[in-house]
Amino acid sequence: MDWGLHNRLSRIIKPDTHRTVMLAVDHGYFLGPTHKLEDARETIKPLVSYADALMLTRGILRTSVDSGVDVPIVLRVSGGSSIIGKDLSNEGITTCIEDAVRLNVAAVALSIFVGTDFEHQTLMNLATLVDQAQAYGIPVLAVTAVGKELGKRDVRFLSLSCRIAAELGAGFVKTYYCDEFEKVTESCPVPVVIAGGPKLETELDAFKMAHDAVEKGAAGVDMGRNIWQSEHPVAMIKAVRAVVHQNMTPDEALDVFEKNK
Ligand code: R5P
Repeated sequence: MDWGLHNRLSRIIKPDTHRTVMLAVDHGYFLGPTHKLEDARETIKPLVSYADALMLTRGILRTSVDSGVDVPIVLRVSGGSSIIGKDLSNEGITTCIEDAVRLNVAAVALSIFVGTDFEHQTLMNLATLVDQAQAYGIPVLAVTAVGKELGKRDVRFLSLSCRIAAELGAGFVKTYYCDEFEKVTESCPVPVVIAGGPKLETELDAFKMAHDAVEKGAAGVDMGRNIWQSEHPVAMIKAVRAVVHQNMTPDEALDVFEKNK
């Protein structure tokens, strides 16, 4: 792997644990003002120092994050559809690579929608982005999105999507946790991180998911709502870090959460 590309990826996936806790705050790109992310600056500020990377769009980066901040940026560069539109999977590349370079990003992120009407279009988006980003040594995070069809979150579908993303040149892949998750990580030759998905019923549920994912080979999490929709977001991200970087059990993480809330 090219030195620059490897160096950027090492800023996100920490070399000492080979894991990462990314904070996802890109939801507005298709959901608009998501609950508890209405004022992105307010949401991000207390959490940023605990995140190994921030995943967001250029609009929120430029308006809501101080440029002096010392955190790797994973810039979402796909979009073009909304939750109320015809088809969420009809995405294109929304940001040119020169702007990503200008923003000094550590990686760029793009969604693929395997099995939808826009499979070909979004996979070609990925291939194009890999060509563009590779020229600057910037790794690409492929997001194996499922659109509105959350039922597709099974091992067969997610293994297929992650493997295709890696084959097309993604440097790392984001997917959802599922039963038999080890089959997803074992058949994907690049690091896999999990999204948290909608806020779970309890904190312990989120810790369990993160714990089971890393135990089954995930390189960590790219979590949003389960952190910043919590009543105690800082305690939440500290506890998730304990699971991901220190291999704490879900119960031990709950202790960390209770002590920090
Ligand atoms: C996915 O593509 C979204 O844009 C989010 O980045 C992702 O779902 C992670 O956030 P959450 O943990 O809230 O699902």
